[in-house]
Amino acid sequence: MDRIGTDIQYAARLLRDGKLVAIPTETVYGLAANALDPGAVLRVFEVKERPSFDPLIVHVGSKEQALGLISDPPEEALDLMNEFWPGPLTLVLAKRDLVPDLVTSGLPTIAVRMPAHPMALSLLRSLPFPLAAPSANPFGYISPTSAQHVIDGLGDKVAYVLDGGSCRIGVESTVLGYKDGAWVLLRQGGVAQESIEEHVQIGAVQASSTSRPEAHGMLSSHYAPRTPLVLGDPEALLPNYAGARVAVLSFQERYSGGMVDLVLSPSGELTEAARNLFALLRQADASGAEVIIAERVPQVGLGRAINDRLARAATERDV
Ligand code: TXA
Ligand code: MG
Repeated sequence: MDRIGTDIQYAARLLRDGKLVAIPTETVYGLAANALDPGAVLRVFEVKERPSFDPLIVHVGSKEQALGLISDPPEEALDLMNEFWPGPLTLVLAKRDLVPDLVTSGLPTIAVRMPAHPMALSLLRSLPFPLAAPSANPFGYISPTSAQHVIDGLGDKVAYVLDGGSCRIGVESTVLGYKDGAWVLLRQGGVAQESIEEHVQIGAVQASSTSRPEAHGMLSSHYAPRTPLVLGDPEALLPNYAGARVAVLSFQERYSGGMVDLVLSPSGELTEAARNLFALLRQADASGAEVIIAERVPQVGLGRAINDRLARAATERDV
């Protein structure tokens, strides 16, 4: 059997046997394991080299399955599920006892979402258990948005990659928690903050805090290419790197002067920019450039998630 393929039944068999399978979602590829099997979940942490204090997202095939994992959800959580699932919204809610501590890193809460990719949904609905799945990349590196990206990063450490093509959204899900009666935005992502605010009031945005691993696992360097990345205005920054091999990653405009010019969205659309973000970051990283200069995008809608990922990828911020 090839390591990359489209055989959902084969993927299901491997997962029932406690193996790891990379699955496509609308956001990024996930490295999936039976969420109720601590042994399988442990291998996810090992393969990713992920610190055990960074909890995983549990993927479900139905709202009923989610309700079997969470305890006493607020009414608004059900509204949010109805509105945004399947889709790129992860809810962090009180967990039930059957969820292994390893999945939640010992927290009393669980992160759950129903992904919108048809292959992921049909896989989930063919299994008697939910799937714990972080992004299918070595910890700290750029998340994968194609089956080949998964193999590039994890190689034969993953039994099978279910190939669902390029991810439609391209940035990870929005993570929304509920604490002391208020919603807290923990990570900007595929559902825009503005869209959530049409349904519930967000009490606090903690999405840019980088030093609370227990709450969010967002260490300061994350989603990061190996090449140093500087975030700022390419026009102003380029002269500082005269003579160096520079890759420029810009939003809409093309900046000549670098060795490689990559544009997130020639038409200036944030959805397109999000879809291209991780593949272009990988391309910049593989280009042989000594430094990547990346430009911020407008800070609205999906732009918030894109800027967040760029900031976390940056070794330096400027301008
Ligand atoms: O789009 C996505 O969310 C992708 C796809 C595969 O679904 N998954 C993903 O997983 O991005 P991961 O592990 O790379 O990010 C999960 C985030 C982490 O920042 C983690 O700290 C947070 O969710 N998280 C998980 N459980 C949590 C909890 N109980 N409380 C607070 N944050 C939690
Ligand atoms: Mg990740």
